[in-house]
Amino acid sequence: MKLLVCGGAGFIGSNFVRSRLRAGDDEIVVLDKLTYAGRRENLKEVESDPRFSFIHGAIEDPVAVAGALEGVDAVVNFAAETHVDRSIAEPDAFVRTHALGTFVLLEGARERGARFLQVSTDEVYGSIEEGSFTESSPLDPSSPYSATKAGADLLVSSYHHTYGMQTLICRGSNNYGPYQYPEKLIPLMVLNAFAGYRLPVYGDGRNVRNWLFVEDFASAIGRVLEHGAPGEAYNVGGPDECENIVVVRRILELCGRDESLIDHVTDRPGHDRRYSLSSDKVRALGWSPATRFEEGLERTVSWYRDNPSWWEPIRSGDYLEYYKRQYGLSLPAD
Ligand code: NAD
Ligand code: TYD
Repeated sequence: MKLLVCGGAGFIGSNFVRSRLRAGDDEIVVLDKLTYAGRRENLKEVESDPRFSFIHGAIEDPVAVAGALEGVDAVVNFAAETHVDRSIAEPDAFVRTHALGTFVLLEGARERGARFLQVSTDEVYGSIEEGSFTESSPLDPSSPYSATKAGADLLVSSYHHTYGMQTLICRGSNNYGPYQYPEKLIPLMVLNAFAGYRLPVYGDGRNVRNWLFVEDFASAIGRVLEHGAPGEAYNVGGPDECENIVVVRRILELCGRDESLIDHVTDRPGHDRRYSLSSDKVRALGWSPATRFEEGLERTVSWYRDNPSWWEPIRSGDYLEYYKRQYGLSLPAD
């Protein structure tokens, strides 16, 4: 199968591309705008594979999209702005990429007759105190990030209902693992702990996330792409949920640091308390997560310990400015 993977230079997209090329006989074209989160080095392992090619371009650019779609059987769209805190500070790019970008990609795929898989998130359902959301729960997003992702999901579904396009949606819970940009909870805390810097925990630290190892999300997306029913959405939740403060304490242990590094800082505005998904529908397609949180977290800490050449260049320049804006702290001084 020839796949167009949009946003394939990011965290989950690059994991998906690596695992598809390792396991099967796909041909893969990546289309990526290379925002701060998109990195060519994430695809280093597959650069020399003759089945792989890379196009630098945006999903909202119809010319780039038309060129990238040549000969493609299916589109997998990871391309997105993905950080909730950035969506609160600067929502513009979220609207452009999720609304306009998804529309342009859908139009291109419709013209080609290509299958379309949209990568989405548990955050479109909003927060839930107890129990879990199913695919028929109403969408009730609360941040500019999740609201624009929900809008994209609705547009994707409309292309199935209106034009009979073969669309699929995968809604994943919080991913973690190698190559995650260190603005997200786990890699940020790991790198701060390595360096002995403060660990900024929002509010009381008792918000709950459901953790999914990135390779498990990649395998679920592959399964839905091949076996999912057109027009359907599939929730993909991880095997374990955990309060943030418990995650942070475990990271400190794994990094050989003590809890005096924890700082309780001002809470995120509109901070969702808990996300939870029921994944029965994707499990019925034969998928299940292979990695429990304890094991995945150890593997993740080890990967960051072994790969400073990946994260050192990131934790400089623009990142330091972002950090100062977000936390009011300089790295490394405070
Ligand atoms: P990421 O921020 O690491 O990567 C996003 C990628 O998209 C980058 O390579 C970036 O350059 C590219 N991109 C952004 N805007 C683009 C545009 N307009 N055109 C082309 N490329 C563009 O994100 P991630 O964590 O890998 O997330 C990938 C997808 O998975 C997103 O759609 C996200 O909503 C979804 N998701 C993420 C998580 C998570 O925990 N990280 C959980 C569930 C779902
Ligand atoms: P994050 O990794 O940003 O993912 P999301 O907001 O999409 O779930 O955050 C995960 C949780 O960690 C969330 O409850 C917010 C919290 N958090 C902190 O407490 N401190 C931080 O510095 C960050 C980035 C997140």
